[in-house]
Amino acid sequence: MFTTTDPQTPPATPPTTPPATPPTPASTATMRAVTQRRYGDSSALTVNQIDRPQPGPDQVLIEVHAAALDRGTEHLMTGRPWLVRLAGYGLLRPKQPVPGLDVAGIVTAVGADVTRFEVGDEVFGIADGSFAEFAVASESKLASKPAGLSFEQAAASAVSGIAALQALTDVGGLEPGQRVLVIGASGGVGTFAVQLARALGGVVDGVAGTQNLELVSSLGADVVHDHRTTDIADIDQRYDLILDIGGRNPVRKLRRLLTPTGTLVIVGGEHGNRITGGIGRQLRAVALSPFVGQRLAMFVSTEHHSFIDRLAVHLDSGDVVPVIGSRFPLDQAADAMLQMEAGRAKGKTVIEVTGARS
Ligand SMILES: NC(=O)c1ccc[n+]([C@@H]2O[C@H](COP(=O)([O-])OP(=O)(O)OC[C@H]3O[C@@H](n4cnc5c(N)ncnc54)[C@H](OP(=O)(O)O)[C@@H]3O)[C@@H](O)[C@H]2O)c1
Repeated sequence: MFTTTDPQTPPATPPTTPPATPPTPASTATMRAVTQRRYGDSSALTVNQIDRPQPGPDQVLIEVHAAALDRGTEHLMTGRPWLVRLAGYGLLRPKQPVPGLDVAGIVTAVGADVTRFEVGDEVFGIADGSFAEFAVASESKLASKPAGLSFEQAAASAVSGIAALQALTDVGGLEPGQRVLVIGASGGVGTFAVQLARALGGVVDGVAGTQNLELVSSLGADVVHDHRTTDIADIDQRYDLILDIGGRNPVRKLRRLLTPTGTLVIVGGEHGNRITGGIGRQLRAVALSPFVGQRLAMFVSTEHHSFIDRLAVHLDSGDVVPVIGSRFPLDQAADAMLQMEAGRAKGKTVIEVTGARS
């Protein structure tokens, strides 16, 4: 602090008052956003000033405080596997030029039919185009942010947390006391799956890379196998439920790790073929299921607030704490995606937009 006796005190300058600017009409308001005009790797992303989106009748406009990465966002960025393009996201270029799904922020406008939220509410969930200062989201994909959760933590939660919750419970039928193996336990979905499985009474083991074994243990896994040094065929334990989130182990190998009536839920796994990704392995497992004693299942996560609300109960109680491996400012979203492409991310990677830690 300067004092009057401080020889380095600069000459006093009168405070300058910026000229008052009239509020910008919503229709012409702009925002900073990450954009992509073509499919490609992270070099396809740039930061631009673009028009703010306008909420539709059942949507809210969110001032984004934080967003987060997930593998789905990477698929929509690259247009790979091609199935993504055929699913209606844009054949030659992304229809939605702003990437990002996970979001947390404050509602600043609501559509005419919105009943669950009002301006000023703190929310988290899934918004198409969350790597921006503002994003619109359907009210059906948002939940109230638990007060004890930071915007960063909330942003890290919805996409991966509800995938883990649905895989374990609605699809996997987890019951207390069951033995669970989470393959891909250190990633976005896996870090939620390990904690949720424990919170729901499961006894959990995990599979992760060498650098993440300690992390997975700290989340509550009893034994953590290193996928770089261990072939899962060499694991002695048998499991009531296996969540296969990472790697591309053949179904026959996975079945050998199941109890005779155990359940396998294939959540994902990268590096499948460039047209259909990993879906072929999933479909083969489902086709085989009626002919074996074990249950072999796949699923596509349902993006509905009922699941986000259920997840919020665990987040609020502290049963589940989002694992944030790294944080990047909005301007460096391309670097964040590059880290994910390189497989160097752990847990969730958060994009800080406005005051995210509060
Ligand atoms: N079905 C759905 O609705 C749904 C929903 C969400 C996600 N997904 C899919 O689920 C997958 C995982 O998503 P994510 O966000 O969790 O990805 P992520 O954050 O990249 O995590 C990938 C995990 O897989 C592990 N892994 C990498 N190579 C492996 C190997 N050879 N064997 C075993 N584990 C390996 C990684 O371990 P290390 O990093 O420690 O090496 C990490 O734990 C993606 O394919 C995604 O598309 C599907």
